Amino acid sequence: QVAAASGHTVVLVDQSDEILKKSTKGIEESLKRVTKKKFADKPEAGAEFIKKTLKNLTTSTDAASVVHSTDLVIEAIVENLEVKNKLFKTLDKFAPEHTIFASNTSSLQITKMANATTRQDRFGGLHFFNPVPMMKLVEVIKTPMTSQKTFESLVDFSKAVGKSPVSCKDTPGFIVNRLLVPYMMEAVRLFERGDASKEDIDVAMKLGAGYPMGPFELLDYVGLDTSKYIIDGWHSLEPNNPLFAPSPLLNKLVEEKKLGKKTGEGFYKYK
Ligand code: 3HC
Repeated sequence: QVAAASGHTVVLVDQSDEILKKSTKGIEESLKRVTKKKFADKPEAGAEFIKKTLKNLTTSTDAASVVHSTDLVIEAIVENLEVKNKLFKTLDKFAPEHTIFASNTSSLQITKMANATTRQDRFGGLHFFNPVPMMKLVEVIKTPMTSQKTFESLVDFSKAVGKSPVSCKDTPGFIVNRLLVPYMMEAVRLFERGDASKEDIDVAMKLGAGYPMGPFELLDYVGLDTSKYIIDGWHSLEPNNPLFAPSPLLNKLVEEKKLGKKTGEGFYKYK
């Protein structure tokens, strides 16, 4: 959405037409929200902006067949290294020489993905934040193999889509998630111990620390499955780090398919 809105030609790829239809609808709705604010006094210019953005966006279910005409691939699939590497390996065969590959992973090592391809120097991390149309930050990740030219291209792209890039080494969680995920897990542990209700913890962090959402609202917003993938991955890397300890409550909710806002229930119920 943000790439198309800033004039880039985008092909959105996913597993089925049904998912793509849902995604396109989500983008249309989000564009309406953005436009309502950005073009508050100029509805015609707003309609034109939506039309132009959607014109820049096409969809496909076959990544290998569309990658031949792309300069940049941004992968944002499931947080599973094997699945990501399988995709990158395939795309590496069909993508032009100059094409840069980037992963939007929240927690996995970029280096391990780059090593699944033959373009380690043209591989980096491009980590966006939910909701992407609103959050200004992008973390640009340089592995020891990422070339300076690739890194600069990723920084330039981030700026071209209207974001503020920061850079970070290829270290677990980069900057934001390394601080945010342990904080959210500590909130769950506080609740699990019965020290405070989740409602009070959320109110406390909003009114006492100025956060726009409390940790439980944010966990539901990000998705409990995503949060669990992250913490489980780090726990396997550092089993003795108490900040990375799994939570029985989080595990139970994920097992019950209560994944947060997207499934209608997580720590809270929606609708
Ligand atoms: N698309 C477009 N515009 C949106 C939007 C979306 N998806 N979501 C919110 N907005 C805009 C709209 O303009 C909306 O106005 P509208 O209601 O008139 O349409 C405006 O934001 C205000 O939204 P709300 O009234 O619904 O609520 P808030 O004022 O609380 O703002 C928020 C919403 C921007 C999401 C704010 O609560 C916030 O900043 N929350 C924290 C988000 C955060 O921490 N994100 C990082 C998560 S970690 C992550 O993503 C990393 C990953 O790797 C796990």
